[in-house]
Amino acid sequence: MYICRLKNICTMDTVVSGIRPTGLLHLGNYFGALRNFIKMQDENDCYFFIADYHSLTTHPTPTDLQTNVRNVLIDYIAAGLNPEKATIYVQSDVPEVCELSLLLSMNVYVGELQRVASFKEKVRRQPQNVNAGLLNYPVLMAADILLHRADKVPVGKDQEQHLEMTRDFAQRFNHIYKHEYFKLPVAYNFGNELVKIPGLDGSTKMSKSDNENSCIYLADTPEVVRKKVMKAVSDSGPTEPGQPKSQAVENLFQLMKAVSAPDALQFFEDQYQNCSIRYGDMKKQLASDMIAFIQPIHERIMELRSQNDYISKVAKIGAEKARASADKTIREVREIIGFKTL
Ligand code: TYM
Repeated sequence: MYICRLKNICTMDTVVSGIRPTGLLHLGNYFGALRNFIKMQDENDCYFFIADYHSLTTHPTPTDLQTNVRNVLIDYIAAGLNPEKATIYVQSDVPEVCELSLLLSMNVYVGELQRVASFKEKVRRQPQNVNAGLLNYPVLMAADILLHRADKVPVGKDQEQHLEMTRDFAQRFNHIYKHEYFKLPVAYNFGNELVKIPGLDGSTKMSKSDNENSCIYLADTPEVVRKKVMKAVSDSGPTEPGQPKSQAVENLFQLMKAVSAPDALQFFEDQYQNCSIRYGDMKKQLASDMIAFIQPIHERIMELRSQNDYISKVAKIGAEKARASADKTIREVREIIGFKTL
């Protein structure tokens, strides 16, 4: 039994991913990331964290930071992450990641960081706060992943470029130090294609930083979900069979694909194609399917919000396990680079 278990651990893949505590988790975070975390925790050696250092790139206040970290941890557990299966921790509880980020940054070029799409977007969005943390964001993210020498990284489509950079940095390290040390981790989704869940406001990505009403949070009550969905942007309806869908209507279909049964989706697809669709009916169906999906998670979130001791214990145990893994990597990396105790 003991031997079998050991063998199993040796053949397991290492999985690492994180979510920034910039607000409550929404359906985009769930379908892009969290759903995969939950599926992967049974068969892999998993590290899932709350990326609080990364959230400083947008300067939250200390109270926001603490509350949001706690809320994301609660959302993780409520959605089905099991601290007995996966290592769940807060990024800043494992400061070894800063050392790895620093060491990796010595072989990263400013020009390549300036070309990153997410950096350019942040420069556009927050021109008054183009901090060096924003520029270094992909290096810290690579350090998060390489700290546990990950094989797979479950993320949504928007993180694809960051993963490519992580592989570049890992390969560069291996090449410079002539050591096949880091594996080259891949972005992962069970459905194969990485996903991007759209917003209810016609935008192509549901996002915490955009309009509140475009996001459905896992913690939303049924009334709030219904209200948001009924107010979702649509259009005046198709006027001829087979007409291409507007972005806003395509979004409603995409959201339905995520939460509804295939026959419900097909029913509205047929109605759209023959121009008999009533968006009000489609939204009612979508709202009730979202509520059925979110309600059990919502209820667990409410229960966990009063269990402060349990939440703190999960974070503490997670930090200890993550630090043990991080410490091993940092020691090995130091040795490969050539740091020696004199
Ligand atoms: P963040 O906090 O923006 O998002 C967390 C995860 O949710 C996914 N996601 C989506 N997926 C599909 N549709 C959407 N509308 C949508 N919105 C968000 C994201 O792709 C992501 O997987 N840089 C990361 C945090 C991070 C990280 C890491 C991730 C820091 N270090 C190491 C993986 C590994 C981020 O900003 O995610």
